[in-house]
Parts: sequence; C-alpha cells; structure tokens
Amino acid sequence: MKLWDIYATMKQDVSYIERELERNIRSDHQLLTEASLHLLKAGGKRIRPVFVLLAGKFGTYDIEQLKRVAVPLELIHMASLVHDDVIDDAEMRRGQLTVKAKWDNRVAMYAGDYMYGQALMVATELRQPEIHRILSKAMVEMCIGEMEQIRDFFNTNQTIRQYLLRIRRKTALLIAISCQLGAIAAHAESKIGYALYRFGYNVGMAFQIRDDVLDLTGTEEQIGKPPGNDIRQGNLTLPVIFALQDDKLQVPLLREIDRIREQNGDTDVSAALNMIRQSNGIKRAEELANRYIEKALAELERLPNIRARRNLRDIAYFIANRNH
Ligand code: IPE
Ligand code: IPE
Ligand code: MG
Ligand code: MG
Repeated sequence: MKLWDIYATMKQDVSYIERELERNIRSDHQLLTEASLHLLKAGGKRIRPVFVLLAGKFGTYDIEQLKRVAVPLELIHMASLVHDDVIDDAEMRRGQLTVKAKWDNRVAMYAGDYMYGQALMVATELRQPEIHRILSKAMVEMCIGEMEQIRDFFNTNQTIRQYLLRIRRKTALLIAISCQLGAIAAHAESKIGYALYRFGYNVGMAFQIRDDVLDLTGTEEQIGKPPGNDIRQGNLTLPVIFALQDDKLQVPLLREIDRIREQNGDTDVSAALNMIRQSNGIKRAEELANRYIEKALAELERLPNIRARRNLRDIAYFIANRNH
C-alpha cells in the first residue's frame, strides 16, 4: 500500500497541518522564510505529524489541539535535517538541493535554529507541561545521537549495540514520541500512550535501518539523493558493520574504508558499495529491521481495534518495504 493511500482516510487534517506548517514558517524575514519553505515544499513523507493524528484517534480527537504537537514535531524534524545536511555535507534532500547547497552552511545553521524556534512557539500554546518535557528531552537525545555519530565516524571497531543506541537517539525517539504525544494531547489513557510509544520506537528503529540500507542499495531516483553518502562521510551503518564481520571481506573492505577516509570523502565509493552489496550485511540488516516491525505490530495488538490501528499497521508495513 502506498503511503498517500493510507493518508487518504485523513486527507483533510493532513492538508490542514500542511497549511499550518507553511503559515508558521512564514515570517518577516525573507531569507529564513525562503530557506525553510524550500525544504517544506520539497515534500517529505510527513510521517511524524501523521503518527500524531493517528495516535490522537485513541483519545478525544481535536485537530486544534493535535496540531500543536504535529506542527512542532515536523518542524523539529525539518530543523534536524537542515543541520544534518551540513554535518553530512549532503547536496540533495527530498529530490532538491539542500539548504546548505542552495545557500550555504551559515544560512543552514540559522534556518535550522529558526525552525526549532518556530516549533517551540507553536508548542507553547499547549498547557500540558508533560508534553514540553517529553519534547525537550527528545531534542536533547537527538543531539546526542548525532554527536555520537560524528564521534564514531570511520570507527571500524564499533559494535552493533553502539549503532543501535545511536539510531535510537537520532531517529527512533522522535518517532516514538510522535505517537505518544498524539495520545497525550488527546488525553488518552496513559497505557495507550505507552503502547503507542513502543510502537513508534520499534517502527523508528526499522525506519532508520531501512534508510541506512537504502543509502547503500538505492538509486538516486528512489532516494532523492545519490547513494553512498553515509560511507563517504564515514558513517558506518548496520550493513557495513555486518559486512566487516565477514572473514573474506574484512581485509579489502577495511582497506577501502581507510582509503575513503584518507581522501576526506572526496572520492568514488562504488568499490565499497559493491563489496557491501555482495556481503550478507544488507540481508542481515533487513532481517533486523523486520524484527523491529514485528515488535511494532505486536504492540498494536494492545490497542483497541479501530481504523487508526489498521492505518498504523499499514504504515509499519510501508516502512518495512519502502524504497524511498
Ligand atoms: C529522514 O527522515 C531522516 C531519517 C530519520 C532517516 P524521513 O525519511 O522521515 O524524511 P522526510 O521527511 O520524508 O524527507
Ligand atoms: C537522520 O540521519 C537525520 C536525523 C535524525 C537528524 P541521516 O543522516 O541518516 O538521514 P538522511 O539519510 O540524511 O536523511
Ligand atoms: Mg544525512
Ligand atoms: Mg546524518
């Protein structure tokens, strides 16, 4: 099932969130507005706001209340992407030039900060301190996750555990709280909020693993950017860690990774990509992603069987199989 077909059941509210995102991004400052709108208009899956809305269906659904969580979550996500593209030296995002490529790193740093600020501004309309606490904590964790990633650039001795901890912070937590905060904003029972949190966490882990696999196996057309950027930057993801455990591949792959590091990322990475694609690293990573999806689906069983639950299940399946 396509993502937009799943969204079709709540088309009106998704469009409303879209308009609210745009309204909040527009300000008196032309450059900040332009740079932020550029990323907004480039598209994106809007998975976090959609999770908020679906989670809200398990409580008292009020779009005015839910938008105060959905809009900040997408803005925080977008801010993190703009900054991430500076760190990852990425040229393309959502099939368009990144903010840092279209303008420069300085504009990207402030455009990101600007979006964080706008996110806080919307969130302050909420009178539930618990939501503010959860949101801020997730922002702190994301920052730690991205920092850990920089620390582990080109670290060929890193463990799977280190990788999992990192993606938990940088990706899974924000998705987990998107689900949980939707429930909290709708005053659902707390055990529903926790089940949704665990659903989001497991989906989020699978989501990042899938993203990392796609960076190694996808085409530019599929992923909206050229593949291989992770390894070029020294971000050694799960399939690479698995490939390094392969006795036959270990020596040539280590040599290739060393060469990439010496070239400071300004080099052809196709040899490394070929080695990883030939290893069983991709398959093992996909298996782990599927295990997370299964756990996510098991969490859904704890929830009342309403249409939103089926939508969440379909999104989980989409994530397991996505190629964009
Ligand atoms: C990209 O997130 C960054 C990751 C956490 C993998 P998305 O894949 O949700 O990005 P958009 O919003 O759809 O562009
Ligand atoms: C995800 O990291 C970005 C954040 C969670 C901030 P990646 O670097 O893997 O994401 P993409 O591949 O650039 O979207
Ligand atoms: Mg990146
Ligand atoms: Mg990154």
